[in-house]
This record gives sequence, structure tokens and C-alpha cells, in this order.
Amino acid sequence: MKTIIEPFRIKSVEPIRMTTVAQRERYLKQANYNLFSLKSDNVLIDLLTDSGTSAMSTKQWAAIQLGDESYAGSPSFYRFEQALKELAPFKHIIPTHQGRAAEKILFSIIAGPGKIIPNNTHFDTTRANIESTSCQAIDLVTEQGLDPQFIAPFKGDIDLIKLRQLLVDRHQDIPIVMLTITNNSGGGQPVSMANIKAVKALCVEFNKPFFLDACRFAENAYFIKLREAGYQDKSPKEIVQEIFSYVDGMTMSAKKDALVNMGGWLALNDDDLAMKARNVLILTEGFPTYGGLSGRDLDAMAVGLTEVVEPDYLHYRITSTAYLGNALNKIGIPIVKPVGGHAVYIDARAMLPHLAPLDYPGQALAVEMYRLGGIRACEIGTVMFGQQPDGSEQPAAMDLVRLAIPRRVYTQSHIDYCIECLTEVYANKDKIKAMKIDWQPPMLRHFTAHFSFK
Ligand code: F0G
Repeated sequence: MKTIIEPFRIKSVEPIRMTTVAQRERYLKQANYNLFSLKSDNVLIDLLTDSGTSAMSTKQWAAIQLGDESYAGSPSFYRFEQALKELAPFKHIIPTHQGRAAEKILFSIIAGPGKIIPNNTHFDTTRANIESTSCQAIDLVTEQGLDPQFIAPFKGDIDLIKLRQLLVDRHQDIPIVMLTITNNSGGGQPVSMANIKAVKALCVEFNKPFFLDACRFAENAYFIKLREAGYQDKSPKEIVQEIFSYVDGMTMSAKKDALVNMGGWLALNDDDLAMKARNVLILTEGFPTYGGLSGRDLDAMAVGLTEVVEPDYLHYRITSTAYLGNALNKIGIPIVKPVGGHAVYIDARAMLPHLAPLDYPGQALAVEMYRLGGIRACEIGTVMFGQQPDGSEQPAAMDLVRLAIPRRVYTQSHIDYCIECLTEVYANKDKIKAMKIDWQPPMLRHFTAHFSFK
């Protein structure tokens, strides 16, 4: 059978408010053409992010009722800890309210001036949390991972030669080595088990702790099952267990592969580091058995961790994202290849060659997708990265539009609707107009900038 069916039935529905093109043109004007400023009620299909937008299962909602809100020693914490240890048996598991809180705590302890932390590609918040301590965040993804059209199975891999060189040159300055699975900022591309093992070997050789930014660990494991020799007959859970067996710690946004709307954690083996992390946690998040979360959130994560490694779920997740990407590719829309786990990335610069990077092709495309079809996506390009600290402006390396797919939320017909809408956008792509920025804050401009057409 070729049809991808969702491996769930729908028990509780959330209405989508239908809107017309004329209404959406008005909403766009009111939002100064910034899609972050739209009211989400006015969005038909929201592909802004896959973070915190998952639909929870009946078992997760039932677990919410079991949440124990004791300040200290809640059974909800122990259920969460046990579920995580089943996949990732770290000695210390420290809940936080989301991923960036775990990053903030970790880097406030281990980073600092003169230091340097390598990764395949740091996610924005990871980089910002490192740089805010005056430490350098360095991206060492392979050359393949930087070429959107190049097809390779593991474009999230880190360049081992460059990593070794850095470990030789700056040995004293490197507190940890990181890998982000899957590589969100590099198109949601997976990292191979071979690469994870090789990084582990380097970390042993140079006596450095190895940490994962593991937000999408289950999706990464499923790609290993599909694409890496020797893993076809292993279950996703076994692959996940193997991945975590090689590392000394992890930061996690549970808003992705723990299938919840809020949550995260820092997990690690080192006793001294864990003690320091818990001290910061108490100041910023809460007591170590709840972090920044309610007991019920911990119970929802515990159940989510068992559901996210189910083969039927992962098959549906990876094939449905690929279905969207392959359909866009067939129409002729240039996308980052191969399709990643959580999102399809359109190469707006290649799709709209009549627009220069400083005409913001990604923003123009995202605005047109919303105007025509009520679909909200996210520009990842010159609007997001072009603003320089001295106030000048540079084109970003790429101008992408990310269509991130919330987990278990949209059906095949919602995705078919997106394909139909993008077919029409593509047919009229030459009419998409250049944009300009009329107002921007001094940093992180993409969230609040005002745009208009040139
Ligand atoms: N690391 C990665 C790889 C991420 O994708 C994110 C969040 C974080 C860390 C931070 O986690 O949001 O819970 O604080 N990514 C979201 C996205 C925001 O849309 O890609 P958080």
C-alpha cells in the first residue's frame, strides 16, 4: 500500500477557522507582513515550527491526570526519570522548562571567555547561550551538509578532520564536543551512527566530554535504521539506546521528540557538573525534581518518550514529511535534499531568481503562501541572519523557507492542500514582489520587524 495513513484515530478535534484571500491580505497588512505577528486563529495550516505543537495521545492526557504536584520527590518525576533512563541511562536527569533553559544552565557552568565549543551546526539558541558567556560557538558540519542540492544519507555529519584539528590546536579551550541530532539548522539532516562513534573515539582520545543536542533523537534513529548498513533489523528504541551509550550528556527540548507542548532536560553523568547544574537550576527553574515544569508535564513526557520510538509512528512521521518534500520537488520547487525529518526547506533564492537576497525572497515567498493559502511557514535566511552587529546588512548563506510539520497534528489531506497551494504559488512565482524592511529592532529582527513591498 502506498497511501500513508496516520497511525492514529482522531478523538478530539480542534476547529480550523477558514479565511478568504481578502481577509488574509488585511491580516498581513495589520501584521506589517511579519508572520510572527499574525494571530494564530487566522492561520489555516501552521507550519511555523514543530516545537511544542505536537498532538498528545489519549495515554498522555490520561497521564496528565496522574500528575503529582508535590514540590519535592514527586512520583511524576520518578516516572519521567525511569522512562528516560530506559532510552538514555544518564546518571543525572535534570528537568527544565524547555531546551534553551538546559542550554543556559550547561553553558553558564562550562563555557566562558576564551573557550570554544564545536558542533555540526549549533541551533540559534544554543549558539546564543554559548556566545552570551563570551565563548565561541563553531560549526563544523561536512561540506556536503552545506550544499542544499547534494544528495547524501547523512548530511548532518560533523567533519572529523576539522574536529580533530580543532582538538589539537585548541585542546585546552574546548570544554565539550557537541552534535545536534537531527541537524535542524542544516535542513533537519541526520547524523550517522558511524559519525557519532567516530566523535566518541575522538573525545576519548582527547579526553573531552561528548554531549548531544538531542531534540529529534527518534527521527535521527529512524534515518539510521533506513539508511545505515547493519541497522535495518534493529528497532528504533535499540538504535536510540546505542546512540546514547556513546555520550556523556545531552540537552533536550521535549517540545520535539518527547511529544509534549512544554518541557526539556539536561542529562549527564558527571557528578560535579550535575551538582553545579542543580544549583543553577534551583535559582532559575525550580527544585531538581520538577525543574520548570508541573508534575503533569513530567508524566506527559514519560509517556511521550515511549510513543516516539514506536516504529509505526516513526514510519508515518518520516514518510509523511518526505511525501510533502517529494511532491514539491516534482512540481519543480527547489528544496533542500534529501528531505529531513521534521521539515521541508524550500530554497527561496533558487525559486525566485528575480529577487536579490536583500529583496528577502524567503520572506516574500512565506508571505505569498499565507496570502494565497493561509499557510504559515518560517523564513530562515537574510531576514533571520542578515543583520550585523554594526547595523549593516549581509545576505545570509541561503534564503530558505521552512515548512515544519507538527507531530500527529495534520492529516494527509491537509498536506495535499499545502501541495495544491504551493503548486499555484509556483505557477505565479515571477509575480512575487521584492520586500523591504521599514522598521527593525537592533537584534533578533525577524520576530518583530515591519515589512512592505518595494
Ligand atoms: N536545539 C535545537 C536543535 C532546536 O531545534 C531547538 C528549538 C532548541 C535547541 C531549543 O529548544 O525551543 O525548547 O528552547 N527549535 C525550535 C524550532 C524553536 O522551531 O526549530 P527550546
